[in-house]
Amino acid sequence: MEQNFITLSETTQTFHLHNNEISYIIKIEEDGVLNHLYFGKAMKHYSGHKTYPRRDRGFSGNVPGNLERAYSKDTLPQEYSTHGSMDYRLPATIIRRENGSNLHDFRYFDYQIKTGKPKLEGLPQAYVMAEKEATTLIVVLKDRLQEIYLNLTYTIYHERPIITRSVSVVNQTDESITLEKIASLQLDFRNDGHYDEVISLPGAHLKERQISREKIHGGIQNFESRRGASSHHMNSFIALVNHNTTEFSGPAIGMHFVYSGNHAFQLEKDQIEQLRVLVGINDYNFSWLLAANESFQTPEVILAYSDQGLNKMSSTLHHLLRERVARGEHQYKERPILVNNWEATYFDFDSKKIEEIVDEAAALGIEMFVLDDGWFGHRDSDNSSLGDWFEYEGKLKEGLKGIADYVHKKGLQFGLWFEPEMISLDSKLYQKHPDYLMQEPNRTPSSSRDQHLLDMGRKEVRQNIEQQICAILDEVEIDYIKWDMNRSLSDVYSLALSERRQGEASHRHILGVYELIENLITRYPKILWEGCSGGGGRFDAGFLYYMPQSWPTDNTDAVERLKIQYGTSLAYPISSMTAHVSAVPNHQTGRITSLKTRGDVAMSGVFGYELDLTELSEEEKLIVKEQVDYYQKIRPLIQFGEFYRLNSPFEGNLTAWMFVSCDQAEAVVLMARTLANAQPVFHEVFLTGLDKNACYEEQITKQRYFGDELMNLGVNVPDFYGDFQTTFIHLKKV
Ligand code: GLA
Repeated sequence: MEQNFITLSETTQTFHLHNNEISYIIKIEEDGVLNHLYFGKAMKHYSGHKTYPRRDRGFSGNVPGNLERAYSKDTLPQEYSTHGSMDYRLPATIIRRENGSNLHDFRYFDYQIKTGKPKLEGLPQAYVMAEKEATTLIVVLKDRLQEIYLNLTYTIYHERPIITRSVSVVNQTDESITLEKIASLQLDFRNDGHYDEVISLPGAHLKERQISREKIHGGIQNFESRRGASSHHMNSFIALVNHNTTEFSGPAIGMHFVYSGNHAFQLEKDQIEQLRVLVGINDYNFSWLLAANESFQTPEVILAYSDQGLNKMSSTLHHLLRERVARGEHQYKERPILVNNWEATYFDFDSKKIEEIVDEAAALGIEMFVLDDGWFGHRDSDNSSLGDWFEYEGKLKEGLKGIADYVHKKGLQFGLWFEPEMISLDSKLYQKHPDYLMQEPNRTPSSSRDQHLLDMGRKEVRQNIEQQICAILDEVEIDYIKWDMNRSLSDVYSLALSERRQGEASHRHILGVYELIENLITRYPKILWEGCSGGGGRFDAGFLYYMPQSWPTDNTDAVERLKIQYGTSLAYPISSMTAHVSAVPNHQTGRITSLKTRGDVAMSGVFGYELDLTELSEEEKLIVKEQVDYYQKIRPLIQFGEFYRLNSPFEGNLTAWMFVSCDQAEAVVLMARTLANAQPVFHEVFLTGLDKNACYEEQITKQRYFGDELMNLGVNVPDFYGDFQTTFIHLKKV
């Protein structure tokens, strides 16, 4: 059957997914074993001559039912592997049946090609705006013994070097089966040396998404979260690269797992140096009981291919996440410059304080005020009131509505903080519904920041929280919500589930969170939603489907932010990354940096302030006013332009990145030097992405340069004096 972007060749028995940039080839091997043949740069045709070679290898036995000794699942690159038929590498799925057996042998059964991209119910995902944007292949595998089917789904975007993948399991036996592991993606490579390094984004609270690049070695490498969220500690993204891959050249495959719970990226280099990659829900503390005739759909993985290094990979992902994962009214809207009172007041505020901050904000041209934690229940510290989403009476003299009205009258928008997935023991909600807390009955659960998890897998729990939030949103005019989540999951046990289903609790919890948020964003489409989890504990492609921006870290130190924002940019668009100027000495590190440096770094994201504006000197207020005015000018370019990393803070003292407008008419470059030294080396930075034939004028010096000159000869880094110095270069085509 011949279709534009996906073809099945009867002669070579291959499916070929292709567009102008990429090809992906799957071969139906002898006896229906599904062989992975290729993923990479586009090829128009595959002749069928180069197939996977065969060789008899000791202790790597045959494909069941086939006596050909050189044909073994233990070495054949496959599309989806399982346990029990002599593939000793990590399996993509383990399924246990009622008789205790976990042996399966999945073979090719059928296929379907569809225009567009089927919707995944209840899950975040990349979508299409029109059917003609993508084509989908579903390859159906069936176990040789049992009526258990796997639908491997591949969608190729026609105009992007992107393939998305997911898997569903259909149980058509008349018994229950238990999924003990179910990866969303398997990608096997031959030892062609293409991908010998892996980049991941590990970190910690206040230190998220630090770039780590390591050799892929023999054996197993794991990049995973077991915290119930995608986590500060290991982001749900990796990139496979070659040791020669740079920002501008070489192959790279970026992989986003579009999910906000426990994830696992597993790499295994086998006995003959071939690589297997598995991505999916972590099998740690996971199982799923599938009754007869039920099916299970995994979350999806986004694959982005680049043959021009990491910047191109990031750009592909930035566009996809911004254009086909983020949704809603604010997807393409310029985001307001806000001031948030958290680092200004913490829990200690009253109406007078808030109004003073709002007055200053209005005078400085700031566009939104966000009231953070502490406005509800009787919350004066972090040890009470989560779950009580009603106003803290008396804390704000004029009430929440009064403050919102005050803010609006001053011409600003009003935002509010919530942490809906949590419960404090000191709360009315806990008094009334102690069973809403996620815990095993009679076992004392672990407390973290004096708070506990609500079991969001339970409908009545979600409904209670939804009703409370709606009551506030129906009463008070709210333009923005910061949706926080300040602890990891523990004591994962659900009263709503039978003993055999307890392994489902954490996935059901995330599905419940998604459902609750989907209801709210649908009911209140005008609100701008921002994700947060103690900073960047849930900064993932899944959450971006619901909220177009997220707080990347609680660390507002401008110097540490260079690394965090640089690392984040590898996988996420700038429009998703908020960044605030805070007070010095910085509350997380004690470091003192200038207001200019703090402003320049924060202006490289979705910009705002998080300090007590009333404490600024007149001179500082002038600077803030200038920053606000300036950001308003460059905002479309920063939030929606092309972003390029030029110099890495992970590799030296100098960081540089730049933003170029889509028509190449304007560019902003940030250069930041961390520590000063005597007898400094003269540094230069080579710009990119400009129109090589155009002449650009630098907006401060009024000097003119040609595009090719800026890219080839480069620009001098200024002779900075002192630590933590930054500068912008702002170019406009003349
Ligand atoms: C988390 C957030 C902060 C702030 C506090 C409030 O840590 O990341 O920005 O909202 O909660 O408790």
